[in-house]
Amino acid sequence: MSDKIKYTRKGDIAVLRIQNPPVNALSHAVREGLVAGMAQAEADAGVKAVLIVGEGRAFIAGADITEFGKTPLEPYLPDVCKCIEASPLIVVASMHGVSLGGGLEIALSAHYRIAQPSARVGLPEVHLGLIPGAGATQRLPRLVGVDASLDLITTGRQVKADEALQLGIVDKVVEGDPEEVGLAYAERLIADAAPRRAVSEMPAPAAIDWDAAYDGTLRKGRGQISPAQAVRAVQAASELPFDQGMLAERKMFMDLMETDQRQGMIHAFFSERAVGNLPELKGVEPRALQSIGIIGGGTMGAGIATAALLAGFNVVLIEMKLEAAEAARGRIAGNLSGALKRGKITQMKYDAMTTIALEVSINYDSLSSVDLVIEAVFEDMDVKKDVFGKLDAVCKPGAILASNTSYLDIDEIAASTSRPADVIGLHFFSPAHIMKLLEVVVADKTAPDVVATGFALGKALNKISVRAGVCDGFIGNRILATYRTAADHMVLDGASPYQIDKALVDFGFAMGPFAVGDLAGLDIGWATRKRKAATRHPAERVPTYPDKICEGGNFGQKTGKGFYVYEAGTRGGIPNPEVPVLIDAERAELGITPRDFTDAEITRRYMAAMVNEAAKLLGEGIAKRPLDIDMVLLFGYGFPRYWGGPMKWADLQGLPALLADIETYAKDDAWFWEPAPLLKQLVAEGRSFDDLNKDAAK
Ligand code: 3HC
Ligand code: NAI
Repeated sequence: MSDKIKYTRKGDIAVLRIQNPPVNALSHAVREGLVAGMAQAEADAGVKAVLIVGEGRAFIAGADITEFGKTPLEPYLPDVCKCIEASPLIVVASMHGVSLGGGLEIALSAHYRIAQPSARVGLPEVHLGLIPGAGATQRLPRLVGVDASLDLITTGRQVKADEALQLGIVDKVVEGDPEEVGLAYAERLIADAAPRRAVSEMPAPAAIDWDAAYDGTLRKGRGQISPAQAVRAVQAASELPFDQGMLAERKMFMDLMETDQRQGMIHAFFSERAVGNLPELKGVEPRALQSIGIIGGGTMGAGIATAALLAGFNVVLIEMKLEAAEAARGRIAGNLSGALKRGKITQMKYDAMTTIALEVSINYDSLSSVDLVIEAVFEDMDVKKDVFGKLDAVCKPGAILASNTSYLDIDEIAASTSRPADVIGLHFFSPAHIMKLLEVVVADKTAPDVVATGFALGKALNKISVRAGVCDGFIGNRILATYRTAADHMVLDGASPYQIDKALVDFGFAMGPFAVGDLAGLDIGWATRKRKAATRHPAERVPTYPDKICEGGNFGQKTGKGFYVYEAGTRGGIPNPEVPVLIDAERAELGITPRDFTDAEITRRYMAAMVNEAAKLLGEGIAKRPLDIDMVLLFGYGFPRYWGGPMKWADLQGLPALLADIETYAKDDAWFWEPAPLLKQLVAEGRSFDDLNKDAAK
């Protein structure tokens, strides 16, 4: 038998222990071992029941995702499940840690299920662009009904043991060693002469309005197809005999396996885990972190303080005036009361976080013992240098001095201190206690253990941290500036901001660029345009109509008007009728005859601009790996996860065709559309961005 399954005999019970660390994924060897183990138990004289348990931290985390996309090897998982369920012996699954996807499907094929109170179960296949492929869409509805099944399968939501018990997914919840409680349960079942209980033999679930469920799920998925497909699979459970339902599920599963969305989602899964794994940090110990100083208690400072408090750090926040310090305290308390209302923290924790753990002050001396300071004052180099000078004077040796600047040069900030090796950029995204992304900006002189501490902080704050180098806007904002410019150009040439926003939402973005501008505040872009005006390249096309929107005092959502008009009490906005008038006037002034854009062309140009700029960043070493850029866009900019990120999207489209499009666009605007040298090189070599990820992993 495969060494992944350990067979032991405990009285009249055979124990199959799955040993495939770290999470007992159902690799080929595990599947083979389970089938062989069942056969051995059935041939073992006197055995009356089989207990399946997992070694280590989980029962089973699901199918082995690394095998996806390769030729499947027998025995296939549905057949393993069938072999378990069809056994004449009573089969019990004893579940601890997670039982996910195929792991839950194995458990559903057992005749009885017992779980630890801390166990979690779920069917996360939709997060991989798939549906369950080993019977969960057919067995779960028979066990718990259609509504609960659709909820679990279409959302991928994981449930704790108590809810699983209440739903009827598990039969018993008992604390103890999983093998011991499983054996006791199996012995009881034998003593009671409990029947074999095959879920597949239970009656088919009642029908619902399948088309309505399908349409609703499709809409909610914003272009993701697998959750909606799951509705059709559950429909098959209701309408077809079990075996035919299994075939229908298998076909849908295999069809989804061939989709770009499956590739994109799995790329996202592995990249999320690889992004914090930097070769340069191997063996580098982070510095100790207990207390954090924050300078500036505005939008960002208060958000970062909230995140730090929620993660258990002590926080000292410095403002310029007492009233500002108290206002910051109020903002933090407001953020934390949101967490309290959502049940994320208890009243006791809330009280401690807003009193003992948080100190607000106007005195920099309060920072003398903190381990790390994050500066979040106005975006102005002189103000930042002044702050870093003060920090240099009061902070203890070894304290890390970080800036949350969006665009400014961290090398220049570092040079204003006597300890540039301790200076780093920690670029959070607004709202900082909610957004998952953290750019760890490594300056020329930043010490490796300071970088490691930036990543350790990100982990403690439950963020996805991405390494970036120093440049105007680092990874995310620099790419944003470019694709936003591509959108601006399309507006000048004939597209409307509203058509562009809609095309990109249809592509899968959470919001279009003009709605995002309204949300962030149009004054930010206005200030940036003014800041850059003096050094602007003469060939650069910059529209002036957005300045006119701002000149009218309209900065987007916060003033009630921008590209859209926001009526109090309504969600979202309606197009601002003044904007097309301003655009028409600018086109007329520039002598542009507007042309039509299809949604496909809008998306293509927007994405091409994004990928081209990203390839420039990679070529310059600002981003080390394509997957780093993918994670920045996914976690900071609302990029649709099912495309995996812009670099994965580009690979899926094919780099030669994308480069050809960029070269075509360059005929009209050679300055903006200059192809990235790295993109040209990859095309010439017949390689992809994913090849670069693989090179980096070697
Ligand atoms: N296949 C292969 N590798 C897996 C895996 C899986 N199903 N699940 C986790 N791993 C790997 C991770 O890549 C990671 O590898 P690394 O150490 O080399 O980076 C390692 O196991 C540990 O994983 P995490 O770092 O994520 O550890 P956590 O403790 O944070 O989380 C987990 C554990 C909750 C199991 C999480 O890894 C997870 O959610 N895994 C995916 C579960 C899943 O999606 N299962 C469904 C698979 S599809 C399926 O079953 C199809 C079926 O219906 C036919
Ligand atoms: P803000 O204007 O809301 O807050 C700045 C705060 O800093 C104010 O409360 C001000 O009183 C305080 N301050 C100014 N000088 C100070 C000093 N010398 N000592 C102590 N406090 C001082 O600004 P916001 O939006 O919070 O931005 C702060 C920084 O974060 C900027 O560098 C910005 O570029 C960056 N950032 C902003 C993001 C956003 O979405 N707002 C996102 C990511 C970064």
